[in-house]
Amino acid sequence: MGAYEEVYRQSIEDPESFWAEAARGIDWYRKWDTVLDRSNPPFYRWFSGGELNTCHNAVDRHVERGRGDQAAIIHDSPVTGTIRTITYSELRDQVALFAGALRAQGVQKGDTVIIYMPMIPEALVAMLACARLGAVHSVVFGGFAANELAIRIDHARPRVIVIASGAIEGRKTLAYKPMVDSAIVQSEHKPEKCIIFQRDFLEAELTEARDVSWQEIVRDAEPADCVPVRATDPLYILYTSGTTGMPKGVMRDNGGHAVAIHWTMKNIYNVEPGEVYWAASDVGWVVGHSYIVYGPLLKGCTTIVYEGKPIGTPDAGAFWRVIEQHGVSTLFTAPTAFRAIKKEDPQGALLKKYDLSGFRALFLAGERLDPDTYHWARKLLQVPVIDHWWQTETAWAIAANPLGIEKFPVKPGSATKPAPGYDIRILSDEGEELGPEQEGNIVVRLPLPPGTLATLWNNEERFVKSYMSSFPGFYETSDGGYIDEDGYVFVMGRIDDVINIAGHRLSTGAMEEVIATHPDVAECAVFGVDDSLKGQVPLGLVVLKAGAARDSDEIAAELVQMVREQIGPIACYRQTAIVARLPKTRSGKILRGTMRAIAAGREYRMPSTIDNPAILDEITDNLKQLGLPR
Ligand code: COA
Ligand code: AMP
Repeated sequence: MGAYEEVYRQSIEDPESFWAEAARGIDWYRKWDTVLDRSNPPFYRWFSGGELNTCHNAVDRHVERGRGDQAAIIHDSPVTGTIRTITYSELRDQVALFAGALRAQGVQKGDTVIIYMPMIPEALVAMLACARLGAVHSVVFGGFAANELAIRIDHARPRVIVIASGAIEGRKTLAYKPMVDSAIVQSEHKPEKCIIFQRDFLEAELTEARDVSWQEIVRDAEPADCVPVRATDPLYILYTSGTTGMPKGVMRDNGGHAVAIHWTMKNIYNVEPGEVYWAASDVGWVVGHSYIVYGPLLKGCTTIVYEGKPIGTPDAGAFWRVIEQHGVSTLFTAPTAFRAIKKEDPQGALLKKYDLSGFRALFLAGERLDPDTYHWARKLLQVPVIDHWWQTETAWAIAANPLGIEKFPVKPGSATKPAPGYDIRILSDEGEELGPEQEGNIVVRLPLPPGTLATLWNNEERFVKSYMSSFPGFYETSDGGYIDEDGYVFVMGRIDDVINIAGHRLSTGAMEEVIATHPDVAECAVFGVDDSLKGQVPLGLVVLKAGAARDSDEIAAELVQMVREQIGPIACYRQTAIVARLPKTRSGKILRGTMRAIAAGREYRMPSTIDNPAILDEITDNLKQLGLPR
C-alpha cells in the first residue's frame, strides 16, 4: 500500500484517531473530552471540551520556542515602494498591544469585529488580535462596494470595525473611509467604533465620537494576553457568495481549524517551520485566511503579504522577483494570475533575470486550472505545479496532490486525489452513486474533516438547506465533475448560480437582484461566459419594459454602473444583451443551463419543457453580436 493510501484509509475509517494524532501539533490549555461529537448530525463538533487559543498557536508559542527573531511577516508592497519585515517577537508585541487597544474600545470574547483592509500587515495583526481575545473576526474583501459591506455589517453586527484609510489598487488610490461611512449609513446595525489605520499616502478624517486612529489607541494600550477559548467557539465568519444577494456567513471554529490547517502545511504543501510560504491572494478571501495568515503562522513559517498584482506592478516578472528576493519555497495563487503573466510574457523572458533555485512548488486553486496554463507554468518553472480544489466552506483542499505524503503523477485538468478526511462521491441528481468516469454532483460523505464550516453564522436552517438536504448524509459541494478509473477527481464547475471571476467567487443571483431594480428592466438573467484571462465573466440578458424610454446602450451603461456601485468592481460586470424574451419552461423557470451552453458554443438538448423554442435562435443571434461563443 502506498503512503497516501494508508493515510487516506486511516482518515476515513477512524477519523477520531487520525485527527487526535494531528491535534498534537497544536498547544492546548485543556485537552478535549471528545474528538468528534456526532450527537447532533449534520452538526458535527471537533475537539469538544478542548480549550486553546489560535493566536497563541500562531504567534506566541514560536517566540517561546526560539523563533522570536525569525521573520513572521514580510510585507512586500510594490504599489507603495516599501518592504517591511516583522519578526515573530515584534508580531507578538504588536498583536498583544492591538488586542489591548481593542479591549479598551469595548471588544470582548464572543464579540464580532469587521475588518476591511488591504494587503498590509495590520490586517493580520487585527485578525490575530481578535483571535487573542476570543473575539470573532469577519474580514470583508476591499473590492466589495459599500452596499455589500452594509449587508455584512447588518448580519455580523460588529461592535467595532477596523479599516485602513485607503489602498493602492494597481495605479489607483482608493479611499476606504467614504465607503465605510456610506456602508454605516446604509446599515441598520451601527458599530460603536471604527478604528482607522492611517496610511502615509492618505489621511482619513475622523468622525467624532465614532472613529479613533489605530496609531493613537495603540500608543496608550496595555498589551493583552491570550484568552483561552473552547475548541468549538467561533474564530471567524467569512461571507461568501451563494445563489442570492444575501451571502453565506461561513463559521469557522478554533480547534478543528487550527488542527487541520496546521496539518495541511506539511502534508499537502510539504513545508517546514522556518521556510518562506507565499499565498498571492488577499486576506479577504478564504485562501488569505488559511494560507496568508493562519497556515504559515501556525507552522512557524514566514508569510509574504504582497500588496501588488501579478502584472503591472511593475511588470510580469513581479512574482519571480518576490520569490528570489525573499527565498520563497512555495507559492500558492489562482490560475488567473498565471494566465495574466503568460499573456504579457508568453516566452517567460522575465524569469531569466531571477534565480529561482530555492523555489520548490507552485499550487493553484480558486478556479479550474486549464491544461494550457498548467503546461505553460510547468515548462517555465520546472517545479511541480499542483492543482488543488477547495471552497470557502472547507478552508482547505478537498482534493489535492499531497506533496508531503506522496506525489502522484499529474493529470492536467484534475485536482488529483481526495485529500485525507474527505470521502468524495459522485451522485446523480436522484442521489444514486455513479461509477468511474460518470459525471454528476460531487459530494462528500459526512462527517466532514476538522476545519470545514461548523455552520452558517446565525442561520442553521440555511446551513442544512444549502449543503445537507439534497443528499442526506452528504455535504453538497455544488460542483459537478467525475472521478476517473485511477481515483483522480475532475472538477468541471459549479452547478448553481455561483461563478468564478479571476478566482473570485461571485453570485449571478446577486447581480440579477441589482439589475432588476433598474426602472426600465422587466426581467433579466445573468450567467457566466468563458473568458481567456479571468476564466469566467458575467453576461446579462435583459428584457426591457414595454415603452422603455431610453436607448439600450444608455441602459446597458447604467447597469454596469449599478453593479459596480452595489456589488463592487470585482464583479467585472460589463456585458449586457437586450433581448425580446428569455427562454423559459412552461412553468416559467428561466433556462439558464441552455443559455450557458449557447454562449459557450456547447451542444445542448432542446429542453422538452421549453415554452417557445424559437427564442433560442433569437438568443443565439443576440449572443453572436457580442462575439459569443468565443
Ligand atoms: N480593492 C478594490 N478594488 C479592487 C480590488 C481591491 N482589493 N481588487 C480588484 N479591484 C478592482 C480592480 O481595480 C478592477 O477595477 P476596474 O474595473 O475599475 O479596473 C476590478 O476590481 C476588477 O479587478 P480584477 O478582476 O482583479 O481585474 P484586473 O484587470 O485589475 O486584474 C488580474 C486582472 C488577473 C491581474 C487579477 O484579477 C489577479 O491578480 N488575479 C489573481 C486572482 C487572485 O489572486 N485570486 C484570489 C483567490 S485565490
Ligand atoms: P471559493 O469559495 O471562492 O474558494 O470558490 C470555490 C469554488 O471555486 C469551487 O466550488 C469551485 O467551483 C472553484 N474551484 C476552486 N478550486 C478549483 C479547482 N482547483 N478546480 C476547479 N474548480 C475550483
